[in-house]
Amino acid sequence: MTEYNDPLLLPHEVDGIRELDNKLPRWWVLLFYCCIAFAAAYMLQYHVLGAGDLMVAQYTKEMAAGTAVKQAAMSRFETELPTLDPSKDPAVLAQGKKTFLTLCAPCHRPDGGGLVGPNLTDDYWIHGPLFADNLRTIWNGVPEKGMITWKNSLKPKEVYEVASYIFTLRGSHPPNPKPPENQAPAKTGPSAFE
Ligand code: HEC
Repeated sequence: MTEYNDPLLLPHEVDGIRELDNKLPRWWVLLFYCCIAFAAAYMLQYHVLGAGDLMVAQYTKEMAAGTAVKQAAMSRFETELPTLDPSKDPAVLAQGKKTFLTLCAPCHRPDGGGLVGPNLTDDYWIHGPLFADNLRTIWNGVPEKGMITWKNSLKPKEVYEVASYIFTLRGSHPPNPKPPENQAPAKTGPSAFE
C-alpha cells in the first residue's frame, strides 16, 4: 500500500479508509449560516412572539373559509330549488343517468319502476309531483323511510342532473312497476309538468 502524505490527512483510519480534513466550500458554509439565521427568525416569529399561525391554526382557518364557501353555495341552491326547471341538455341527462344507475337504481330499479323505493315513472307521488318536490326529496331524503339524504354525498349540480334524468322517466311505463304507494289525491299526469 502506498503511503499517502498529505498535510490535511487525519490520523485515524478504518479498514484502510482515511479522511482528509478538507475545508467546507464557502457556499455550503454560507447556506448553513443562513439556515441557522432562518431557524432563529422562525423561532422568534412563531414561537416567541406568536405573530404567525402555526400549521394547525392555518389548517383550521382554511377549512373554515372552505366550509363558508361551500355553505354559501349550498344555501343558494336550496333557495333556488323551487324555481329550477329540469334540464333537457343531453350531456346533463347522461350524467344524471350515470348517477341514477350507480346510486339510485338499487332501490328504484334501473328503469325507475320501483323496488324498495317507489316507482318514479307513474303519476303517484308521495312527496309532491313537481320537479322542485323531487329535487327537495333527493336533497333532504326521507331517512325514516329509507330514502337517503343525498346532500351529504352529492353536489347540488349532481342532484340537479339526476333529478332532471328521472324527470325524463315519467310516463315511461316500465314492465312490472311497483304499485302506487300513494293512493290519495295527488294523481297528476305528465302533461301537468310541462
Ligand atoms: C336505500 C334505498 C334508496 C336509494 C339508494 C334511493 N332511494 Fe329514493 N326513495 C327510497 C324510498 C324508500 C323512498 C320513499 C320514501 C317515503 O316513503 O317517504 C324514496 C323516494 C324517492 C323520491 C320521491 C318519490 C315520491 O313518490 O315522492 C325520489 C324522487 C327519489 N327517491 C329519488 C332518488 C334518487 C334520485 C336516488 C339516487 C340519488 C335515490 N332516490 C336513491 C329509497 C331509496
